[in-house]
Amino acid sequence: MITAIRGTHDILPGQIERWQFVERVAHQLCERYGYHEIRTPIIEREELFAKGTGETTDIVQKEMYSFTDKGGERVTLRPEATPSMVRAYVEHNLEQTLPSAKLYAIGPMFRYERPQKGRYRQFHQLDVEVFGLNDPAIDAEVIDLAWSLVTDLGIKRAELVINSVGCAACRPKFAAALLEALGTDLPKLCQDCQRRARTNPLRIYDCKVPADQPIIDRLPHSVDFLDESCATHFAGVKAHLDTFGIPWRVSHRLVRGLDYYTRTTFEILGAVASADDGSDAESLGAQNALLGGGRYDGLVKDLGGPDRPGIGFAAGLERLVLALPQELTIDPPAMACVAAIGDDGRPEALKLLRELRRGGIAAVMEFEARSLRAQMKRADRVKARVTVIVGGDELARGEVTLRNMSTGDQHAVPRASAVEAIRKALA
Ligand code: HAM
Repeated sequence: MITAIRGTHDILPGQIERWQFVERVAHQLCERYGYHEIRTPIIEREELFAKGTGETTDIVQKEMYSFTDKGGERVTLRPEATPSMVRAYVEHNLEQTLPSAKLYAIGPMFRYERPQKGRYRQFHQLDVEVFGLNDPAIDAEVIDLAWSLVTDLGIKRAELVINSVGCAACRPKFAAALLEALGTDLPKLCQDCQRRARTNPLRIYDCKVPADQPIIDRLPHSVDFLDESCATHFAGVKAHLDTFGIPWRVSHRLVRGLDYYTRTTFEILGAVASADDGSDAESLGAQNALLGGGRYDGLVKDLGGPDRPGIGFAAGLERLVLALPQELTIDPPAMACVAAIGDDGRPEALKLLRELRRGGIAAVMEFEARSLRAQMKRADRVKARVTVIVGGDELARGEVTLRNMSTGDQHAVPRASAVEAIRKALA
């Protein structure tokens, strides 16, 4: 048998209802906050991510699904959506054509990571981006949208962490201070950190190697190196969050694993509600970021566009689904079942089945099993609330029989008004 590729998964009936719920809430919220949906290709030029996500990131260094296509072009399955959103914003001049450059997208992303719970090679994100706005109020609005998503999904025990990584003007001072503080400890860090110290010292904060952590914990904090305008901006973001009543905590380690961030960075951390073994809520462990984002004021220009700021976040849909409350039940749509008695009833039953569906009512009929008993069993299996029985005798009287599947009550209704009677029975 040919199986799915490691790190990818099928989302099966029975699981998809939770996905649809998460996506429904996401669409509704984004629309309520004035965002426009956009769909960009899954495949892009490799250079978009090399430049956009950043050459010094783990994503570009180790995790991209890149290959040469049959035309000799280097292409990549997108590892994140932000560079694609920026490309589309610039390529289609959305600044001019949209009333506000607030965009969102939902779709699959690809990263060649070591799969574990909450971490996959094909995963899905809700990605939200705003272009052209500098005011700290927009940072707070984006964070508010992220927070509302998590709370509207009923996810408990979520925690918002924020930080500011400064801008192109003040960051070099922070990077220099990092190197200075590392001093003679640098050779004790892992090989990746040695490389990071040369290419982008901030990336040292991405390190997960346990032995490195005591050294990293002693390093300076970016918030202590902000210039005046970055410090004022960060204070503004925090004040707006307080006004909204959204609880936050500053995490000095939150430099985020992508190169484009400036000023505000944030994540919402969560726990998995539904442990596989049925035990109580367990932590998502290292994969506990339900979503993450921040400001990227230089990216649009770096990717060939006008000098416009940007801010956004992406939420991992797998992680949101894992974190949904265990007790959440999603009712299937109310369903009717049509049962035919003998060959006499069958043509009319098929006709009624179609009338129901054309009338907007979900309805099924068992084509193979002919006995009424078998058809009733089928109605139970699909959790039909009402079964309409179509038989020769009833039809001769111009009637069909409605059966309430939970009480077992049956009564005759005129064939001519059967659709309306079923609609009423399902309401
Ligand atoms: P990110 O932190 O790389 O940011 O990913 C955002 C979210 O995607 C994570 O918090 C996590 O929930 C989910 N995620 C990431 N990798 C995986 C994986 N291998 N398996 C399952 N879920 C995963 C970004 O992607 C940025 N583009 C966010 C952004 C938008 N920043 C500004 N605008």
